[in-house]
Amino acid sequence: MIRGQGFGHAKIILIGEHGVVYGHPALAAGLTAGVQAEAVAGSGRLRVPAWSLDARPGDGSPVGRALAAILERLQVDDLDFHLETGIPSRAGLGSSAAMAVAIARAAGAASGRAHPETALRAAVDDAEKVFHGTPSGIDAAAAFGGNVGRFRRGEGWRPVPVLQGMQICVGLTGRPRDTGAQVAAVGRLRERAPIVGQMMDLFGDLCDAGERALAIGDVDGLGRLLDVAHGLLCGLRVSSPEIETLVHGARAAGAIGAKLTGAGGGGAVIALAPGHEQDVVERWRRDGFAGFITAVGPALPEAGHHHLHAAGGES
Ligand code: PMV
Repeated sequence: MIRGQGFGHAKIILIGEHGVVYGHPALAAGLTAGVQAEAVAGSGRLRVPAWSLDARPGDGSPVGRALAAILERLQVDDLDFHLETGIPSRAGLGSSAAMAVAIARAAGAASGRAHPETALRAAVDDAEKVFHGTPSGIDAAAAFGGNVGRFRRGEGWRPVPVLQGMQICVGLTGRPRDTGAQVAAVGRLRERAPIVGQMMDLFGDLCDAGERALAIGDVDGLGRLLDVAHGLLCGLRVSSPEIETLVHGARAAGAIGAKLTGAGGGGAVIALAPGHEQDVVERWRRDGFAGFITAVGPALPEAGHHHLHAAGGES
């Protein structure tokens, strides 16, 4: 019986969203949470019960078109895909890239043909273009790589050493974010306000400092950097009332750093709160927001991860 499995990591951006669009580096983490795909003999049907998704290549939906792009690139047309996931879609957690990587890996494994890594990556890039136009590629890189990495357009993903694993709280605004619209708004601001160019340079400096903090296990220092990165993102006007409620709620509950992650306008917030992770998630819950705790770096298991349901299939 033909059968193949594949996994794609969800991601959080620690520092550098929006700057990465303009060639600056970003620090991101592939989470141990993500999307698991199983491919069996069939006709291209894709089912993702957690996102209430049932798609086929050629059905005209974005997911159907992304699936068609992957299957065409890998020259596979005789497989069905069943996907399991605990991450929400459209929250800025890279669910579309995680889905594409899981499908490509499962298709590659089930086809019985040796697909080189470059072909799998090209298939995922094709799918991401369907969802996001011209994404920087950071989601796909994290979905393949897992762990913490430094990403730069044109250079790709370089694993970053992390001395001490840490837990990160992820809070969900419940409002889908529109990456294309946020990136376009930042682009317009950049045209009008030359200071935006200097703010982008600062993202690069924050990434360098973040890499050093991770290497020596300076969790407090990393917290400061997350706060500063969030300040810059507010200056780019990509925050929102829900994001601010989550960020300030996290800080009130003991977080030493909190910021939006991803494109902003909605989506998700991350918070670093050593010893207070449960307090942060509880505070968010009381404020009406879902959240979970995930791990970054070595030797820490996922903790308190909830299975969250959200409609739609794009990240
Ligand atoms: O799609 P999101 O929410 O993970 O945002 C991606 C990060 C951006 O830098 C805003 C866009 C990009 O293509 O890198």
